[in-house]
Amino acid sequence: MKFIQKSDVMELLKTHVPSTEFVKATLGSYKGQEADLKNLYLKPVTIKNGYHISFTYRYARRDIVKNYPVAVVSDMLVAFCDREEFHSFTLFLQHQNIFLQFHPKKGWHYRVQAVECCSVPDLEHNKQKQRKITNTDSAYWHALRLTDAEGKVYKNAQDKWKQINHYIEILSTSLSELPENDTIRIVDMGAGKGYLTFALHDYLSQHTNSKIETVGVEFRQDLVDLCNRVARQSELNGLHFVEGTIEAYQPTVPIDVLIALHACDTATDDAIYKGILHKANLIVVAPCCHKQVRRELARIKKTNELDFMTRHGIFMERHAEMLTDSIRALLMEFYGYQTKVVEFISDAHTPKNVLIIGIRKKVNPIRQEQIQTKLKDLKAFFGLESHYLEMLLKDAAMLVD
Ligand SMILES: C[S@@+](CC[C@H](N)C(=O)[O-])C[C@H]1O[C@@H](n2cnc3c(N)ncnc32)[C@H](O)[C@@H]1O
Repeated sequence: MKFIQKSDVMELLKTHVPSTEFVKATLGSYKGQEADLKNLYLKPVTIKNGYHISFTYRYARRDIVKNYPVAVVSDMLVAFCDREEFHSFTLFLQHQNIFLQFHPKKGWHYRVQAVECCSVPDLEHNKQKQRKITNTDSAYWHALRLTDAEGKVYKNAQDKWKQINHYIEILSTSLSELPENDTIRIVDMGAGKGYLTFALHDYLSQHTNSKIETVGVEFRQDLVDLCNRVARQSELNGLHFVEGTIEAYQPTVPIDVLIALHACDTATDDAIYKGILHKANLIVVAPCCHKQVRRELARIKKTNELDFMTRHGIFMERHAEMLTDSIRALLMEFYGYQTKVVEFISDAHTPKNVLIIGIRKKVNPIRQEQIQTKLKDLKAFFGLESHYLEMLLKDAAMLVD
């Protein structure tokens, strides 16, 4: 049995964790002040601004992940050792594993184990994993009835689970294109039961260094109460839900990200309008039904040259969808949003599977003129008198005829 001094342990931590030999580390037997903290796991990751060490703080009911530049990590570990907060450190290196265990009466026990086949930290793999939700054991998933008490996704929730994961993957890519902010403020319009709101809030809290503040807006009071209760119980700070309509919502702070997933008919237009009005950096909507344009098309279908198509109900439906959403994308572009339209889950799972994503860039007056002409031509060609989003913008004098 070999015992070493505290100063030797600190030296080992300072030498090995920042080195290229470092694969991962586990800190255990926590004796500090933080209630419910069990373990701390370290691993190297490459994020947007370079090589970092990712810290996963494992509490009894949740994980918190923070990424630190490697330059500050040695000091943090030395402080943990100095304060005797963790009584066990295991360092996994490419050619050896080092086990350090503190015994209050004897000091630090030291053991080294050679590793036959060296393990190399897979930074790309880490990156890949970060795009997906792995914390199925988080209490809120169970409270929202997506998983059982052991964190197993229910069979009948598998489609929703796929949808949530894909949504997080797409959003995290779009968010990485935004300038880095100390705080990211998200508003989720028509949050419903909050699956996607919880997923995004928790994911970003764990995988970015920004503070995340999320508001879910929903007109069903029962859902608002449920989501607030679950957020509180799961200690998800910065996440809360308010009762009210999208139309009436008045943000009290700037909006960075505006989301509206499957908000019915023109509620999607109300959400986009709020995003444009408050200059959200990112607008993401998954339109639901397209009744407003469909009603107009139905009114004129006999006189329209497209009657050969619109007399078939299903084509009429698709036609209304394409027309409504292309005009939405064009109007977003008018205000400087670089827009793209993607499928966020196969239509085998749900037909409501289109995401319109807009990232705010500079307004281009030449492009604005082109868009205005295009809108006029489009409406004339399809015999469309109005588009709800266009009306909202005109009423607010943000768009002229
Ligand atoms: C189909 S659910 C979608 C929920 C969630 N966004 C999702 O994709 O899982 C639509 C939700 O939006 C709410 N909603 C619809 N129109 C709204 C409006 N104008 N203002 C506030 N909430 C609205 C409904 O009550 C419902 O809970």
